[in-house]
Amino acid sequence: MLKDIVKNLKPSSTLKINELSKKLEDEGKKIFKFGFGQSPFQVPLDVVNELKNNAHQNKYLPMQGLQELREVIAKKTSIEKKYKYKPENIIIGPGSKELMFLLHIIFDGNIILPVPSWVSYLPQAIIGRNKIQLVHTVRKNNWFPTGEEIEKIILKNKEKKYLLFLNSPNNPSGQICQKLEEISDIVKKYNIIVLSDEIYSELTFEDNFQSISNYCPEKTIISTGLSKWCGAGGWRLGHFVIPENLNELKDSIKVLASETFSSVSAPIQYAAITAYSNDHSEYINNSKNILKAIGNYVYENLKSNKIILNKPQGGFYLMPEFSNKSFSTSAKLCDSLLKETGVALLPGSDFGFAPQQMLARLSFTDFNGQEFIKNLKDEKKISNDLILKQAPRVVEGVNKLKKWADSI
Ligand SMILES: Cc1ncc(COP(=O)(O)O)c(C=O)c1O
Repeated sequence: MLKDIVKNLKPSSTLKINELSKKLEDEGKKIFKFGFGQSPFQVPLDVVNELKNNAHQNKYLPMQGLQELREVIAKKTSIEKKYKYKPENIIIGPGSKELMFLLHIIFDGNIILPVPSWVSYLPQAIIGRNKIQLVHTVRKNNWFPTGEEIEKIILKNKEKKYLLFLNSPNNPSGQICQKLEEISDIVKKYNIIVLSDEIYSELTFEDNFQSISNYCPEKTIISTGLSKWCGAGGWRLGHFVIPENLNELKDSIKVLASETFSSVSAPIQYAAITAYSNDHSEYINNSKNILKAIGNYVYENLKSNKIILNKPQGGFYLMPEFSNKSFSTSAKLCDSLLKETGVALLPGSDFGFAPQQMLARLSFTDFNGQEFIKNLKDEKKISNDLILKQAPRVVEGVNKLKKWADSI
């Protein structure tokens, strides 16, 4: 009774690791939750209050999203990207993930996915029934494709339409794409479309975030939302910014949206106006500084000839590579690590790497962000002592992981 396309989708090892973690925890074992990545911070209080004030909003809202919300988002995005976006260019969805899913459904062409990529791109592309073309990346390019690598794919069949997924700062690598200009040259040369997933952009550690839309705005759909910078993953609000000349895509997404989720929860949309219009720079700076300090702590304490990794540049993640060759797959390595130390990582194979590549994703968010911010005081530089006090599980888990890697 199931379609083949669905039957062949396997539950990711994310679920398996979560199940095993839960089982071990029930048996009384201490688990270091470095597998699951979600914001450790609470939603800013003014935004929470606005949600409470709007609990009575019970009407369906316009399918494309509340006009006032789209106005504030268009204004903010226009300033940030130095390009004129109008409220009509914005679509609000129940998370950016859902909007990406609809994009896969409506798009007819080839999907270019870098490896590594976020876990949901590939299954969504499979469900969308387009041809998927993977571009393998290397550490020295920050795990992003080069323009030349993308061009090579396109040259195999220039007649096709292409949709390239680009996610910077990246999940799982924690890296920023340094090759936006050369990629945008290819995008313009072959008239392809980019889905620029900028969900972690506010959490870029060095204020050096750049969007590919700065180079080719007419070809770029920007995808982002409240989930990461605002700590509101469970609220389910994301949006697309679609330039005028891609109106055909926007109109089709709107049709599918109207036949599926209808419109995003009204109170959440009203609260989102406050999220995007009040000044949250202090909250964002604090979150960013804490994540940067913890990310660097993990990096400094793990890097060795046993664990190779790049310094984190934004978001919640690091991608360690183990030099040990005794495991046949990264999933088996993660399984052993979890059973022997309680440290949960996700295997690189979940992100598109070949199973025998000993890569894994480490999320350094196993701490209470609210408490950490409260204890920041004026500390510009976050000391290791403060990290030890406020993120003890990260510190303990990193020690265990390091010892384990040295011992195998
Ligand atoms: C790279 C990336 N894109 C998109 C999403 C989904 O975001 P949303 O909560 O807006 O659906 C996530 C969430 O984990 C993510 O890591």
